[in-house]
Amino acid sequence: MKRVAVLTSGGDAPGMNAAIRAVVRTGVSLGLEMLGVRHGFTGLIAGDFIPLGPRSVGGIIQRGGTVLGTSRCPAFLTDAGQQTAVEQLRDRDVSGLIVIGGNGSQAGAHALASRGVAVAGVASTIDNDLPGSDVTIGATTALDIALEAIDRLRVTASAHGRVFLVELMGRRCGYLALIAGITGGAEAIVIPEIPQDPEKIATTVREAYARGKSHAIVVIAEGAERNADALSRYFTEHAERLGFELRVTKLGHVQRGGSPCAFDRLTATLLGAAAVEQLQAGRHGILLGMVDGRVTPSALADVVGREKPLDARLIQLARALTE
Ligand code: F6P
Repeated sequence: MKRVAVLTSGGDAPGMNAAIRAVVRTGVSLGLEMLGVRHGFTGLIAGDFIPLGPRSVGGIIQRGGTVLGTSRCPAFLTDAGQQTAVEQLRDRDVSGLIVIGGNGSQAGAHALASRGVAVAGVASTIDNDLPGSDVTIGATTALDIALEAIDRLRVTASAHGRVFLVELMGRRCGYLALIAGITGGAEAIVIPEIPQDPEKIATTVREAYARGKSHAIVVIAEGAERNADALSRYFTEHAERLGFELRVTKLGHVQRGGSPCAFDRLTATLLGAAAVEQLQAGRHGILLGMVDGRVTPSALADVVGREKPLDARLIQLARALTE
């Protein structure tokens, strides 16, 4: 292995820069020539490569987003797009590729591996929905941002005696809402994995007020069967009977923009370094993730297209704590 390229793909996640830094510096220390691909698979198809050295990744470990840029790339889902990507790598004599990203990105990595490219993936998405890693880069920072928002909302909810509905990202996975709901002390948590009857939420909130609470927070995942808009519509339509309305706050992309916390920086550094070491050792077609606190490679073939179930104990805890 002589020349290795690295790209970030899909939704950016805090810690991606720390992973790029670790990839580049580890690669150089192993005697490799390092290239960056700008804007994910879009840049790979277009041949948008830049040389990277230890100094070009200085001062980025604390920055959110990704200095390489990222994209969602429909063209990469096509046969022609993937073939062009393989040719771009071959033309530049790139013998290994590191893909930092979540589910869709690792599916892309797997497609390239099936076409003979030596690929190593690094598990990175705020959604934490990728099998092969107990926790993905960016999820913990996104949770910290959500918690700060929930704490602030509770202040104003309390001043007015209001009920706030806070919608968190996560695509079809309820991880962010579940953990933010538990650690933010929410009165109710609504996630795809725990469907909630609006009448039950109303009862829970009324009971909380009857116990003397001056506010209520309901945390909902964007992927919930009845999402924030639908739930707030229901409460508005039945406001007279239910006794209150819901004020809605959607955190949206705010959750992605933070400076990575210590945990995400460390995880990104460990996984980024391991990805290069694995390629150098001739092991590829793998995803690097954290399993039981250890850097662990999994076959991309075993990861792609699968869902990661939420921890049943945490679901049970959420039910107990919000009842
Ligand atoms: O996968 C990360 C994520 O932030 C999801 O939580 C969210 O549903 C999606 O990306 C939003 O994608 P985009 O930034 O392309 O709108």
